[in-house]
Amino acid sequence: MSTALPSSDSEQSGTINYKDKIMTSSRKIAVVTGASSGIGSVYADRLARRGYDLLLVARRGDRLQNLGTKLEQAYGIKAETLVADLEKDEDLTRLETVLAGNPAIRVLVNNAGIARLNSVAETPVKESLAQIELNITALTRLTHAVLPAFKERNEGIIINIASALALHALPVSSVYSGTKGFVLNFSRGLQQELANTGVRIQMVLPAATATDLWDISGVPLTALPPETVMSVEHLVDAALAGFDQGESVTLPSMADAGLWEKYDTARSDLFAAMQTGNPAPRLLSL
Ligand SMILES: NC(=O)c1ccc[n+]([C@@H]2O[C@H](COP(=O)([O-])OP(=O)(O)OC[C@H]3O[C@@H](n4cnc5c(N)ncnc54)[C@H](OP(=O)(O)O)[C@@H]3O)[C@@H](O)[C@H]2O)c1
Repeated sequence: MSTALPSSDSEQSGTINYKDKIMTSSRKIAVVTGASSGIGSVYADRLARRGYDLLLVARRGDRLQNLGTKLEQAYGIKAETLVADLEKDEDLTRLETVLAGNPAIRVLVNNAGIARLNSVAETPVKESLAQIELNITALTRLTHAVLPAFKERNEGIIINIASALALHALPVSSVYSGTKGFVLNFSRGLQQELANTGVRIQMVLPAATATDLWDISGVPLTALPPETVMSVEHLVDAALAGFDQGESVTLPSMADAGLWEKYDTARSDLFAAMQTGNPAPRLLSL
């Protein structure tokens, strides 16, 4: 059983089949969704540095290809790319087949995500649904795809990228916060489900990080106070340090780790306080 992210090669080999390509690997494979930019591209770099072969997934194949080639040369690993639009059922199905079929896949970084920051009233419903498809549906389906083999082997790592906005909603973030709230509760439940196994789920809650997400979201990065924005390298390195230290929930920019404990205790107390079976006295009609 191994729940660590190793810094060297592993023993297991496997084969990825997709389209007409075959990827054989003598090392463990880490799959990173949304690897064509931002947080995902730095995860790819750091996992390659730790000795993983990579399967890089996103829509922009040229960027994946360039990154893969660079990482192969830098670290002597093997990087394959899978061009997929994870909002599309057929592309998800293709990736699910790959994930379920290769015993060398040991790490899944569910990173691909989008934010469309605007009021619900002014957002076309298609844009809200796109956030739900990618941030929720894809993450859920890919987790389902790897889990049976991870459980069977009693080994595997899933890193789910949520957001500080999983804990907070703004007038422009109802849908995005809702999707990341899903990632939070989905991951917390999974952690309990898998508590006595060798499968590890880490959830990462980045606050503002300097990536393309902002400009695409409708709120330019330049609109944020610069002192609140973390570099993408700091974000990923801190998240991986949290992983190495055994954190199941990592808030990379939060200095006082005790704050999460307080929050989680209050949440749990609140849940317990609701188990009364009776209307609250203040709500009884007079
Ligand atoms: N940046 C922040 O401040 C921040 C804060 C909290 C959480 N996060 C989370 O961090 C994760 C990564 O975001 P980022 O900040 O690194 O933004 P980013 O640079 O815009 O990266 C997003 C990645 O997702 C991929 N992607 C987008 N739509 C896709 C689709 N339909 N199918 C497949 N891949 C798709 C993009 O690749 P293609 O365009 O090539 O498909 C890209 O690689 C997201 O889950 C985001 O919610 C970011």
